Amino acid sequence: MVKSADLAPAWADLNLSALRANVALLRRLLGPKVEILGVVKADAYGHGAVPIARALVAEGVRFLGVACLPEALELREGGLTQRLVLFSNPLPGEVETLLAYEVTPTLTDEETIRTVAQAAAKRERPFPVHLKVDTGMGRRGCSLEEASRLAALIQDLPPLHLEGVLTHFATADEDLDYAREQLLRFQQLVDTLAATGQRPPLLHAANSAALLRLPEAHFNLVRPGLCLYGLEPFPGARALFPGQPVLSLKTRLVQIRRLHRGETVGYGRTFTLPRDAPVGLLPVGYADGYLWSLSNRAYVLIRGQRVPVIGRVSMDSCAVDLSGVPGAQIGDEVVLIGQQGEEEITASQVAEWAGTIVYEVVSRLGRRIARRYVTESFWSQGL
Ligand SMILES: Cc1ncc(COP(=O)(O)O)c(C=O)c1O
Repeated sequence: MVKSADLAPAWADLNLSALRANVALLRRLLGPKVEILGVVKADAYGHGAVPIARALVAEGVRFLGVACLPEALELREGGLTQRLVLFSNPLPGEVETLLAYEVTPTLTDEETIRTVAQAAAKRERPFPVHLKVDTGMGRRGCSLEEASRLAALIQDLPPLHLEGVLTHFATADEDLDYAREQLLRFQQLVDTLAATGQRPPLLHAANSAALLRLPEAHFNLVRPGLCLYGLEPFPGARALFPGQPVLSLKTRLVQIRRLHRGETVGYGRTFTLPRDAPVGLLPVGYADGYLWSLSNRAYVLIRGQRVPVIGRVSMDSCAVDLSGVPGAQIGDEVVLIGQQGEEEITASQVAEWAGTIVYEVVSRLGRRIARRYVTESFWSQGL
């Protein structure tokens, strides 16, 4: 039977050997007692949650981070038995499922703490939870003023075990001074807790940028996402962490037409050919996550040459000017992100062309993009 993935007009090659090498490289930056929580939310940043999680686990990662409960369930159903940390506060209707699937919540308010404690009362052993403190992100988390009281409350509720306390940086990739202020507040909280005899076994704060730039923020658990995938958390990060990109995005040339000088290409007629030119069609568009804002801005690689995207990116396709690739033929492999010959287009470069951040470029890759997993010695699909 033909697999639909074999027919996919575009695909992402995911190099699991690179992922594992990135984990090993990250470990070299960490002290011997610091563990990694692999952030696999948003379908592992578009890389495919279950196969990526399995590869991380094979590399010794014991903690995985997700944004919502369905993501945790997908991992459990995929056979992952490791500790899953949910970065959001569960809704009351989700608490039973959270417990049934052994998902560790990051709690932020008294009501949810009590709801989880009540649901956990029938369990034999205390249920581990983490307390999330907002030290300046202005997003999820309890305030610093509330944190000591909520930590004490969790400790006083026998069905719960305060396993971790965490915070999240707003600017570790941009403004290190502000990140240091956040770190100071978090450290002060940790000291206050310790003064009252509360020493949660896990303290965590660092995303990829903080992991690379603020070693004091490692505590005993770090939460990288981007670095695992070999993506740069800030310009120049490669000098600190020369990780290999895990993902390459590819497609094929499906049509070549010779258009004439003065003719226009695509919706809105935003590109007029300055001369007669062979125009190639790529079967990938914004519905696949090849963003509309790449219209008239991006380049792709064909036969080792950089080729400009011309006209607007459509839902299912986009066009390229093949003038610089005289031998181009239908069926030629096209690299949208990744290496071909001597050339490379990074996800960060695509983000810059699109006027967005690298997280969006990878996490928006759509369902039509087949994910093909490769390790050094063999190819396999749908791991
Ligand atoms: C709570 C939390 N921790 C860690 C991360 C990982 O961030 P990064 O991909 O920048 O390493 C994220 C991602 O946004 C997050 O929301």
